[in-house]
Amino acid sequence: MRSIISITDLSREEIESLINSALERKKLKPSKFFQNKVLASLFYESSTRTRESTERAAERLGLRVMGFSGIEGTSVQKGEPLADTLRMYHAFGAHILALRHPLEGAARYAADILDIPVINCGDGSNSHPTQTLLDLMTITEKLGSIDNLRIAFVGDLKYGRTVHSLVTGLRMFKNITIWLVAPDSLKMPEHFIDGMAVHHSEHLQDVIPNVDILYMTRIQRERFPQGPEGEFEFERVSKLYHLTPAHLTTAVGVMHPLPRYKHRIEISLDVDKLPNAWYLEQAHNGLFMREALLSRILSGSLPAQQIEKPSAGTWKDLPVIDGEKQSQRLVYRLDNGTLIDHIHTGKGKNVLSVLHVDARATFVYASNIKSKRYGGKDIVGFPDKELTEQELSKVALVEPDATINIIRDKKVHRKGKVVLPKVIEKLVECQNPRCVTHPSQHEFAPQKFIVVSHDPLILKCHYCEIPVTREQIKLADL
Ligand code: NCD
Repeated sequence: MRSIISITDLSREEIESLINSALERKKLKPSKFFQNKVLASLFYESSTRTRESTERAAERLGLRVMGFSGIEGTSVQKGEPLADTLRMYHAFGAHILALRHPLEGAARYAADILDIPVINCGDGSNSHPTQTLLDLMTITEKLGSIDNLRIAFVGDLKYGRTVHSLVTGLRMFKNITIWLVAPDSLKMPEHFIDGMAVHHSEHLQDVIPNVDILYMTRIQRERFPQGPEGEFEFERVSKLYHLTPAHLTTAVGVMHPLPRYKHRIEISLDVDKLPNAWYLEQAHNGLFMREALLSRILSGSLPAQQIEKPSAGTWKDLPVIDGEKQSQRLVYRLDNGTLIDHIHTGKGKNVLSVLHVDARATFVYASNIKSKRYGGKDIVGFPDKELTEQELSKVALVEPDATINIIRDKKVHRKGKVVLPKVIEKLVECQNPRCVTHPSQHEFAPQKFIVVSHDPLILKCHYCEIPVTREQIKLADL
């Protein structure tokens, strides 16, 4: 069983094979192969192309389709949590779910709580992997290959999920040149282009001679901040990019996920009849790509991906040569318990705070002790208490270099450092207010972070995929 939540849930080989299958299907009659299967198509946000093409693709394969298009008339309007709606559709017989939702991470959450495959048809500003698949199919169809592509993304690169997914997908291909054309307020969030060599420009006409494809986008008005400030900014930025036949002096292909916005049209309708206009064909390709994807998932020919299971941190031992002597050298001599050494000066209180130690607890705390290695260090000790693995993981989150000494009968029994587990559950709170886990959204999705890198520490919210550095970590109140 395979869910497609992010484009990174597929390998380059799988993407290429899906493109071949979709291009084949474009020439074939539909097969009606999956007559006993049911698709739940739940679109919490407006959609024409993604929803219709997903549902028609399902019908071409013989599936029955149930669901809703917009929340009007459903119990979502009565305030039903996402999890309840999802479980109901599962109970009513869905074998596969297509979900579009305004919250980032909603589709990943759905995949976590249901044991049927989930296709992300857009989660807030985060991602839209099936759009990327049909985009890559169109590029292959028009240019013969994706490697060596030169592409400019134009417009709303901040809130546009289609460009986020496509840029991410293009990382799997070779020698890609990317131009980003956007005003300052709509720049692409750094984490999507981290480590990539991209070019920036604010002017459409400057990039056209340098690229094979112009990927135009709609300004996502609905995701701007509410109120006059958002209104004012929208007024300003929505006038910036307006492509006309006069711009198209080269063979550059024009793509757009659509819809375009008629009040400030970003591609003039006169462009439609030019050979440069690929966007109508691009939208049509969505039908065959979604058919290919549904068929691969339902036939089980996409092997299940490895899911990282939450685990405790691992312990990295440091040598205990003579436990008794080592114990005597420690600033505090405990008979039994845990002594945490080599905490950066002044940070001992963070350790106490992550462990929820209050003034009533028994602990020892020394600050700014001279240390050869650090200049100054803090030390925290807990007499008669050996910290649990969960507690040690918390310490590693705030002070990864600290040395943990477990003392038994006045001897250092064990000494070492804690290496964070790959998946961290509950400890860290996602600060993105549009994340499905954010308490203000009342979806009760658990907090879950993946450790992307240990040094420097970078975590990524498992749901909305936004990274945080050690300085940005907000520990959850447990
Ligand atoms: C896009 C979307 O919903 O993200 N549309 C689509 O799926 N083809 C782009 C948009 O709404 O601007």
